[in-house]
Amino acid sequence: MIRRTVLLIPFLFVLASCSKKQEVGIPVGQFGSLTGAQATFGQSTDNGVRLALDEVNAAGGVFGQPLRLITKDNQSKPGETSTAVRELITRNKVVALIGEVASGRSLEAAPIAQRSGIPMITPASTNEKVTEAGDHIFRVCFIDPFQGTVCAKFARKLGAKKAAVLTDVSKDYSLGLAKSFKEEFLKEGGVITGQQSYSGGDKDFSAQLTAVKADTPDIIFLPAYYTEAPLIIRQARQLGITVPFIGGDGWDSPELVAVGGPAVEGCYFSNHFSNQSTNPKVVEFVKAYRAKYNTDPDAMVALGYDSLKLLADAMKRAGTTDPAKVTAALAATKDFDGVTGKITLDAHRNPNKPAVILQVKDGKFSYVETIAP
Ligand code: PHE
Repeated sequence: MIRRTVLLIPFLFVLASCSKKQEVGIPVGQFGSLTGAQATFGQSTDNGVRLALDEVNAAGGVFGQPLRLITKDNQSKPGETSTAVRELITRNKVVALIGEVASGRSLEAAPIAQRSGIPMITPASTNEKVTEAGDHIFRVCFIDPFQGTVCAKFARKLGAKKAAVLTDVSKDYSLGLAKSFKEEFLKEGGVITGQQSYSGGDKDFSAQLTAVKADTPDIIFLPAYYTEAPLIIRQARQLGITVPFIGGDGWDSPELVAVGGPAVEGCYFSNHFSNQSTNPKVVEFVKAYRAKYNTDPDAMVALGYDSLKLLADAMKRAGTTDPAKVTAALAATKDFDGVTGKITLDAHRNPNKPAVILQVKDGKFSYVETIAP
């Protein structure tokens, strides 16, 4: 009996080191909304990150070592992101983080990454405050002061003089975007007729929409996520509001059309990327994505893809996976050739990139124009 135990112990050691050996590669953490209210955000990003991961690892990884992705799901719930990020840092010992889409959840993660000295790249959070958490926090997307300006300029270009604004007061994203839209629309000589608010998760918007209708706006700015935007637009159409709605990147999901149907036809939103682009780099990317996932990539796919590619590039430039050195390399990013455009990070770790305007046409997101910074 005693002899058996003695023999078993070294065997268990061998087993433990075998399973460790299987975990080869540089640990990179990802956190996102893979399930829950905004699941298409997290799933799209994850698909894009994985396509980039396959490509980086097939090309030999980073200085001969593959990247190993560890993904945690925050279920779209507040509070879950901090747990996920702490676990990725302390238990999984990740050297860098990719996440999130929703600005509110990136704002939850950023101080933790900053305090731990781990670089974090948010693929898609556009709220200005996210990268203000500190010098370890980066993003590959434009910011809302620009996106709001883009939407206001486009609304004026459509000939709108009076705009109503409907804000989701539960989201930093919506509040920030509403603010920059209003400022620019007024600056461009427009009038804001009515300002209404709601809270993410609400289902009945008739009170707000009745007030909006009475103000007779030419256009309605709706900085919402896809979870509420199609419900609001459908209810507006039922109330006889026929003017176009304009939104931001948060509309980007197949659910917008699936839920909104004919009500969302003709509406516009600003975005980071159009999968109809004829840029050869984008064409190749769309082809590779279709081959792997059998569907078209949205903006979060493209931004997730660019995030992982940029991280691998920064590690190569740093010549090490040491988080402090990777942070420095990320800060020095210049003319990185992404599928969402050229990425040069400024002193606030934000890129300066153009936005595209898309219009819902026959249930598809059809490219209208590019608006440069
Ligand atoms: N920009 C949004 C936010 O900050 C998230 C988003 C990005 C949604 C891209 C869709 C597409 O919350």
